[in-house]
Amino acid sequence: MEFKPITEDRYEDVIRHLRDNFADEPLNKAAKLCSRGTGHHDLEHHSIKTLEDNMSIMAVDENNKRKLQINDDENFKKIFQLLYTLNLKENIFEHFHVEKAFDIRILSVDNLYRGQGIAKGLVKHSEEVAREYDFELMKADATGLFSQKILKSNGFEVLSEQYYDKYVDEFGRILLPVESPHIKLQLLYKLLK
Ligand code: ACO
Repeated sequence: MEFKPITEDRYEDVIRHLRDNFADEPLNKAAKLCSRGTGHHDLEHHSIKTLEDNMSIMAVDENNKRKLQINDDENFKKIFQLLYTLNLKENIFEHFHVEKAFDIRILSVDNLYRGQGIAKGLVKHSEEVAREYDFELMKADATGLFSQKILKSNGFEVLSEQYYDKYVDEFGRILLPVESPHIKLQLLYKLLK
């Protein structure tokens, strides 16, 4: 498995990979944002913007170059309102007296390659990129138990969290019925200096 930066010529492959493999990210699944094989315009825009920061890492199996194959705006809002609210509640910039933070976003591994430590490797390589760019702080909005486990094993700690069954509308209805074992969103951080 080779870990390398994602260059512009691979953006299309990345988007196709996300269409096929990111649908089961716990919040996407709960909001029914996209189904396997189908993209979501806003999510793809968000992904491209992240790729354009030129700090994204991919893990490629050179021996198996399987061609990466790869709406509802209210649902997208439900997810991002949850993420923004948690981030606004705990302003990490003020909390850690920093001006910038390296955000681990859209961690995604092909279904066929899961459980082999690839996500752990992607986080480790991302930390190298963050250090190279002199970031003092890394953060992540970890939406499920597995991403939380992965980040914690890479030295991340919990700053704050939001239980999904407490994210409700004005009638007390759960906005995102996230499936077990994913019960909460965690804002995690790692200080690099
Ligand atoms: N069941 C049980 N444990 C699991 C599972 C699973 N399905 N998947 C991962 N884990 C555990 C592993 O056991 C391992 O723990 P351990 O070291 O204690 O044994 C740990 O999580 C790390 O596993 P990796 O092999 O590094 O993870 P993987 O390469 O399989 O990728 C990922 C995990 C990225 C969460 C993948 O399942 C995926 O793409 N899911 C859909 C998208 C998603 O939810 N992304 C995270 C969004 S949050 C964010 O981006 C910050």
